Amino acid sequence: MSHTEDNSGNGSATRRDFLYVATAATGIVATGAAVWPLVDQMNPTADVLALSSVEVDLGDIEVGTQLTVKWRGKPVFIRRRTEEEITEARAVKMDELVDPIDYVWENPNLKIDSPALDQNRAADKTGEWLVMIGVCTHLGCVPLGNGAGEFGGWFCPCHGSHYDTSGRIRKGPAPRNLDIPLTTWLSASTIKLG
Ligand code: FES
Repeated sequence: MSHTEDNSGNGSATRRDFLYVATAATGIVATGAAVWPLVDQMNPTADVLALSSVEVDLGDIEVGTQLTVKWRGKPVFIRRRTEEEITEARAVKMDELVDPIDYVWENPNLKIDSPALDQNRAADKTGEWLVMIGVCTHLGCVPLGNGAGEFGGWFCPCHGSHYDTSGRIRKGPAPRNLDIPLTTWLSASTIKLG
């Protein structure tokens, strides 16, 4: 009878094996589920990267104002600068800067690491458009804009970092200029970030 078969050990052993295997399999699935998002973040697929591009219509931005858009979880400042802001930014000498070099990883629009000239940072030749990641390079606060700070650009109130009208660090604890995202012009009034 079946009771006898269980007492032989075979049935019980099989059952224990089954339970053990089932538990182990569940553990593996759970581990897989926990690890997947990390792996996914570290290796974004082409689809994910494409989705993380943002197109922005600049048509409604007045001279002397700034639009902030969210891109890849970060604020991006898009400023349509006044003539005065451009002139001021372009008059600055490199030896006045705390961070005189913009590396390609800080500004992927550059072909090579370059002096932090306003001409290398602006999104267009005239310098009317400046597009930057709005994250303070000290500890990551979002700086205030619209002429804030001692250099007429942006000011981070967290610990007092002052950025000029080109988004370059001029005073305070922030070590680097504001980063610049990859920016592509799709039309005269539309850009793509990323
Ligand atoms: S986070 Fe901006 S000054 Fe510290």
